[in-house]
Amino acid sequence: MTESIAVGLGQRMYDVHLGAGMLAQAGTLLRPLLKRPRLAIVADATVWNLHGEMFAHSLHKAGIAYNVIEIPPGEASKSFVGLEHVIEALLQLKLERADMIIAFGGGVTGDLTGFAAGVIKRGIDFVQIPTTLLAQVDSSVGGKTAINTAAGKNLVGLFWQPRMVLADLDVLATLPDRDRRAGWSEILKIGLLGDRAFFDWCRAHTTAALAGDQPRLAYAIGQSIRAKARIVEQDEKEVGVRALLNLGHSFAHAFETCVGFDEAIVRHGEAVGCGLAMAFRFSAQLGLIAQQDVHLVEQAIEASGLAAFPANLASGAWDPLALFEAMTHDKKNENGALTLVLVRAIGEAFVQKGVDSNTVQAFIQEDVKR
Ligand code: GLY
Repeated sequence: MTESIAVGLGQRMYDVHLGAGMLAQAGTLLRPLLKRPRLAIVADATVWNLHGEMFAHSLHKAGIAYNVIEIPPGEASKSFVGLEHVIEALLQLKLERADMIIAFGGGVTGDLTGFAAGVIKRGIDFVQIPTTLLAQVDSSVGGKTAINTAAGKNLVGLFWQPRMVLADLDVLATLPDRDRRAGWSEILKIGLLGDRAFFDWCRAHTTAALAGDQPRLAYAIGQSIRAKARIVEQDEKEVGVRALLNLGHSFAHAFETCVGFDEAIVRHGEAVGCGLAMAFRFSAQLGLIAQQDVHLVEQAIEASGLAAFPANLASGAWDPLALFEAMTHDKKNENGALTLVLVRAIGEAFVQKGVDSNTVQAFIQEDVKR
């Protein structure tokens, strides 16, 4: 079964089509969006190896010609050098402003390709075909695009909405377990920030979903996309409620910065899992939430095969000062004080500005030892 979830952004509204067999339908779904029957595809090299043939066949059937630019898998592609490579390769194809670019891969591919599409000729349309669980539930929806710099993750980028998102459940079957678990953290996040009932559903169905049960995965992904779409509709540019989607992310980005965004060491979703638990522990330390709720969250994260404590994340050898320093570069910070997403209950997140940096530093100092 396929479902279509609209992201209602006025004239720039688009659909997220979610279901099994979406790649086989891609040509038919894309054709009406094209002014001329050709596409430029930016694909993660591994994804193209696994699923390129299926996608190409569907384009061929719909009479769409295409060129493929393969990028190396991994966060290192999301850099100035990676951006230059993709932009130069796309320009070589003599794209016109009315042409279409496809991002075919995980979050790295989507973020990088979306950014390139947004700046080439002052903006070319693009479509997201996310192939990881994390990209399907989070990064492909909502128009955030970015690259990383030495100062931190996603610090250079644009809001550039896709024209369509095609999320194929079948491609998740080839996803390594590690990536499926990592993606699950963004699903838990959706429950934790605004939907207690969904969090409880996740707790009951995590094991089956992560073992590949497609109906459960479809439900979890659909719920997450719907929740995210509603948030993005209210606050596309993150001046308000969209910031809630960053629950756990200030801590997560610090871990990623400390390992130089090396996904072999820490996947984004793994860092988010630990970051979510830290946001709950920090909220408990401020007296905002009961300890028993914190335990419930830690258990849910660990039941997903993720680390709820820094000591269990990668080597566990984290330098608290380096983590804190990385957090001070967060885009949400204002006037030197930190802005954090905190919780007053499971399913009730809120944005707290002006968090005292000494308190955060002391918290991290303790938390890395837990
Ligand atoms: N990944 C968070 C957002 O799109 O706002």
